[in-house]
Amino acid sequence: ITIYVPSDTTAKALGADRVAQLIAETAANQQIDLVVKRNGTRALYWIEPLIEVDSEHGRYGFGPVKAKDVASLFAAKFWEGQVDHPLALGLVDELDYLKKQQRLTFSRIGKANPTDLADYQALEGYQGLRKALALEPQAIVDEVKNSGLRGRGGAAFPTGIKWQTVLNAPAEQKYIVCNADEGDSGTFADRLVMECDPFMLIEGMTIAGLAVGATQGYIYCRSEYPLAVENLNLAIQAAYDNNLLGADILGSGKHFDLEVRMGAGAYICGEETSLLESLEGKRGLVRAKPPLPAIVGLFGQPTIVNNVLSLAAVPFIMDKGAQAYADCGMGRSRGTLPFQVAGNVKFGGLVELAFGPSLRELMFDFGGGTRSGRPLRAVQVGGPLGAYLPESQWDLPLDYEAFAQAGAVLGHGGVVMFDDTVDMSEQARFSMEFCVAESCGKCTPCRIGSTRGVEVIDKIRAGQNVNANLELLSDLCETMLDGSLCAMGGMTPFPVQSAVKHFPEDFQAPVKQGE
Ligand code: NAI
Ligand code: SF4
Repeated sequence: ITIYVPSDTTAKALGADRVAQLIAETAANQQIDLVVKRNGTRALYWIEPLIEVDSEHGRYGFGPVKAKDVASLFAAKFWEGQVDHPLALGLVDELDYLKKQQRLTFSRIGKANPTDLADYQALEGYQGLRKALALEPQAIVDEVKNSGLRGRGGAAFPTGIKWQTVLNAPAEQKYIVCNADEGDSGTFADRLVMECDPFMLIEGMTIAGLAVGATQGYIYCRSEYPLAVENLNLAIQAAYDNNLLGADILGSGKHFDLEVRMGAGAYICGEETSLLESLEGKRGLVRAKPPLPAIVGLFGQPTIVNNVLSLAAVPFIMDKGAQAYADCGMGRSRGTLPFQVAGNVKFGGLVELAFGPSLRELMFDFGGGTRSGRPLRAVQVGGPLGAYLPESQWDLPLDYEAFAQAGAVLGHGGVVMFDDTVDMSEQARFSMEFCVAESCGKCTPCRIGSTRGVEVIDKIRAGQNVNANLELLSDLCETMLDGSLCAMGGMTPFPVQSAVKHFPEDFQAPVKQGE
């Protein structure tokens, strides 16, 4: 009997390694024939560590399992699957949270050993690449275009059009760069791909290489993700050993090499041009665009820079066809977006959904409301540069255009919830402070503006000339919006202005003595 114990960073932080060890030891002591296998995670974090028992009916889940629960699990003969135990969850695939999702990109997550190539191939892995090898580059690009896939890093630019630009650019050397510098607050979908299904990213990048004639790829991963780097390197080595990377992929004569590079903790290195500077060994300063990286990118050559989730969507599209992906979604937002529900939430985790349901459904039907049990007051969607949304906006459909019309962004799908104890003037201050810390310093509105922004918000919070200072803050935000070179300075006003607009009472309250 196989027992699965998750091995991603979150499950490990919650004690999964100790649980795995105890299960193996107890089984040996009691002479019970169990095999402990480490899988990824299903990313239902409130029941992690979620252990699973394989059976002919599917996998039975138990969670959240702590080391202290192992003895009672053995006493209940948990390996029989459907047993009476307070942590028994029934069949994992039947859990509502999973059943209600459309996991296209994350279809394999949590089912397999992340770095076992045989596991990946048994779950339809590398079928997309096999199909792509039989196609001309233009046909691959057309497939991605027809799928309607848009950049999942946040900007939602059509991926196929970016690929077409690189395909059309004449050059001896082209590059595929994966932006894995996942810096948005509350986000973890890129990490899940890299830790739990790294071959999917490798396959997607290889297909991108074939599509545009690039023979070298780099994954630029943030240094805060050591397990992602470890699993990627193991998977890359396995791909080389099996002719899935290198000079003659599966005997086709096609060539693609891939390496992982680590960042050094700068948020701004997630901006594509400063990422390229960093990859070239320089300080992560933003470059002016144009020229676009698709024309003049890494080492001056045409380069695809795509987020992990964009590249990870490609194997599905090549395998099942553009239409299967495009059939999901609404309006111009096709396919699915893996939402990451975090912050003050009861049931936090990964929720991959076709575009269209409302933000409210995501936060309540999946998230179950706040963890504190207090009323939900605000939600920030799209990372630290995304707007704060009050209840009047929670019925917005999860759709790029609907959010843009409301002055908000879906971004990379990060959803951070706050209950009624939140002080929105403090959140606004935090946004400016974050910009002070993370600005690359190249342009004045962002470098100086953010520091002045913190000062002005401090005065407002201290009750000094509140109305005049709110006007000054508004002017400052306009200047940052209009005058910044990149999204860091250009979008920091979104959370600030939305906090002032939707939660004005938090900017008027007199600060208590001694605070
Ligand atoms: P952008 O709109 O300037 O560019 C989007 C992408 O399309 C870029 O790769 C650009 O090079 C490409 N592009 C634009 N026109 C093109 C053309 N004609 N041909 C080919 N390629 C073209 O947006 P930017 O500055 O790259 O990203 C901003 C977004 O990043 C924000 O919306 C924010 O949500 C997101 N973001 C994501 C973070 C994360 O951790 N995932 C962190 C911070 C911000
Ligand atoms: Fe650098 Fe900020 Fe200007 Fe972006 S907006 S280029 S981060 S100074």
